[in-house]
Amino acid sequence: MVTTPTLPKTVDAALPPGPTWPVVVQTLLFGQYRPRLLPLLRRRYGDIFTVRMAPRNRRLIVLARPADIRTVFTGPASVFHAGEGNVILGPIMGQHSVLLVDEDTHVRVRRLLMPAFHGAALRGYQQVVADLAEAEVDRWPSGRPFASHDRMHALTLEVILQVVFGVTDETRLAAMRPLVRRVVDIGPLVLLGWFYPKLQGFGPWRKYLAVQEELDRLLYAEIAQRRGATDLADRGDVLSRLLRVGAEEGADALTDAELRDQLVTLLLAGHETTATTLAWACHDLARDPAQLRAAQRAADEGDDEYLTAVVKESLRLHPVIYEVARRLTAPVEVGGYQLPAGVTVLPGIGLVQADERNHIHPKEFRPERFLAGQPAANTWIPFGGGVRRCLGAGFAQMEAIVVLRAILTRFDLRAENPRPESTKARNITQVPAGGARIMVRPRAGRS
Ligand code: HEM
Repeated sequence: MVTTPTLPKTVDAALPPGPTWPVVVQTLLFGQYRPRLLPLLRRRYGDIFTVRMAPRNRRLIVLARPADIRTVFTGPASVFHAGEGNVILGPIMGQHSVLLVDEDTHVRVRRLLMPAFHGAALRGYQQVVADLAEAEVDRWPSGRPFASHDRMHALTLEVILQVVFGVTDETRLAAMRPLVRRVVDIGPLVLLGWFYPKLQGFGPWRKYLAVQEELDRLLYAEIAQRRGATDLADRGDVLSRLLRVGAEEGADALTDAELRDQLVTLLLAGHETTATTLAWACHDLARDPAQLRAAQRAADEGDDEYLTAVVKESLRLHPVIYEVARRLTAPVEVGGYQLPAGVTVLPGIGLVQADERNHIHPKEFRPERFLAGQPAANTWIPFGGGVRRCLGAGFAQMEAIVVLRAILTRFDLRAENPRPESTKARNITQVPAGGARIMVRPRAGRS
């Protein structure tokens, strides 16, 4: 059950300015049209403003100045609670999820997860990702437009199942795929229902719960079987690595219930985000023949630095997560305001990344900007920041580069519609409104 204590109305006088529209209007606009709403509010109210959300008139303080975002990312984890800020995800990810816990509990879980997301481990995943990418692009139709977002979804889901969960047995994959697809497809109605626990017994909420329970059953079976596997030491997937870390930790190891929550978290945090980034990258390249040629050359020559710049620029231009959240447990000064405990601050990823004070010609797709050096601190933050920075950032970038290489060495790309594509809200992510439709043809001299 999701609970958020109500703040007294008197706090509003001391908060940054913001719209005075009814809370229900602000909630709907924020939920559905963030990338349009927040830049508009920034122009009207400045680099720090307040929006109010249902239920219980929650106050969200949006931050668009890198220096204020720095205050949040470098501030004490005991004051800036990210887990509480992500509380809406509790009903699906579970109370032990690394995304939902704070302070010492977060430090422990993150420490246990970390080894599966670092250098050597990432290199170990590359070949499986490459094989899955090759198998996927083998099926792409030549000369016929298709929604690249759908195909990337299918691919990143397979990566989670095989590389993260380590399920390779075709019978078990076939049982898990449809459940996982339904669990990740949360939808605004189900999401909103999590604030109102009484709804769980009805209609779409009951159906969603039933699918979730069925997936949990399979996940617990997988964990039990893997614990007893004779080849655990040789297995390269994330779950097996977590179990090996657990064996070294003894009493501190993750329990089955904790592992279940982390697996569902990795599924939800890692699947749609990476799929969307890849779809945007394909669409951006497909719209720009000169950029496409440069990226193809980089793919042919093994120039990963350039492909990394392509991925980074797509993440800048199309932030999949538009903002991150920290709930204050104590009063703090941010951007000249003394903010009370109980409000939530939102570092505005989308706002700083589209700001011409931070990036020259921010509306243009220019991967080269990332070749000249690092952008200024807190002006490129698609993975959030501080101790809560995305645990899978390295994984996502490795996956994106491997997949782009498979596509670019093989195909010429063209966008079905060469105009820029708008975004729409899906779950907590911002995705291409038209599916990022592209057309591919084998490159001359390649099949
Ligand atoms: C392009 C793809 C991705 C994007 C844009 C992205 C973005 C983010 C963002 C913005 C956060 C919140 C950070 C904060 O609060 O400061 C986050 C957290 C997280 N992400 Fe990602 N993510 C991506 C891919 C992945 C992948 C592939 C995985 C794992 C397989 C993953 C696992 C996580 C986890 C576990 C957290 C919680 C970290 C914590 O609270 O300590 N993400 N991600």
